[in-house]
Amino acid sequence: MARILTGIQSTGTPHLGNILGAIKPAIELANDPINDSYLFIADLHSFTQIKDCERLKNNTYAVAATWMAFGLDTSRSVFYRQSDVPEVTELAWYLQCLFPYSRMTLAHSFKDKSDRLEDVNAGLFSYPMLMAADILLYDADKVPVGKDQMQHLEMTRDVASRFNHKFGDTLVLPEVLTRESTMYIPGTDGHKMSKSHDNTLNIFDDAETLKKVINKQIVTDATPLEEPKNPDSAVVYNLYKLITSESDAQKMAASLRAGGYGWGHAKKALLEALVDGFASERASFNELMSNREEIDFALAQGADRARVVASEVLSRVRGKIGY
Ligand code: TRP
Repeated sequence: MARILTGIQSTGTPHLGNILGAIKPAIELANDPINDSYLFIADLHSFTQIKDCERLKNNTYAVAATWMAFGLDTSRSVFYRQSDVPEVTELAWYLQCLFPYSRMTLAHSFKDKSDRLEDVNAGLFSYPMLMAADILLYDADKVPVGKDQMQHLEMTRDVASRFNHKFGDTLVLPEVLTRESTMYIPGTDGHKMSKSHDNTLNIFDDAETLKKVINKQIVTDATPLEEPKNPDSAVVYNLYKLITSESDAQKMAASLRAGGYGWGHAKKALLEALVDGFASERASFNELMSNREEIDFALAQGADRARVVASEVLSRVRGKIGY
């Protein structure tokens, strides 16, 4: 059985792009009985950006509730909070002391973030070594990530080989599993849906809120109602197509091409597809968020299982280093 491990960012409630592009495929992988799956909420990484106690906690709950609402089997997968296994920070320290500073300065993600964010702290700089520790602490074989995380995976393999070279075979070198069919999920403005572009759709919002967001934010052109429209270049159609059946998508495309069907109609159809299509996930998300003990219970169980592996690997590491 291959051990598959991945970390989940917790900088906000996951949006439609996160759900379709990353969460649903990851849940499929995690629920597959041929995998030994580790999934954690990277709340220590979130502290590089979030210095507000309530927000930090809430984000973790919102992320956990999303994964659970979309059907993650938490009795199969080891599902935990990164901060519940603080051993990871100790390993991160050892790794930082083995990794050349000059190499750290080459990380793209740090450059991107330091251009964008106000709070450019040292944690943001050492982020890749905490991520390497996340992976190496659990002897992970495979790590599914988006393309933006490839360099972090290279750094992980690099620091693991440095460790093994210096102290003898100790750490497992993980393989990267890139999400090949990474779907392009457009945001309300047509650019890739992303929190940093402020163009996201939150499927857990109520119908009223979703309606406002769809009507105000989704861009359309000025083609009058009667005239034919090109569905393929329309954000509203491209979003609709991702969440509805093929036949409904074809119907909308045909109506747009025929003319006499306006953007307002298309937006209404999109709203209904979002509200109805995710009704059961929304209900279980809300239920979990108002009954957090259930989330706490699942995460605590995950942390117990994670700690067994973490302490074993960490004592192996300490022994080699001389502690
Ligand atoms: N850095 C990852 C991201 O931004 C999240 C993450 C943290 C992660 N630790 C990890 C992913 C370990 C995979 C393995 O998406």
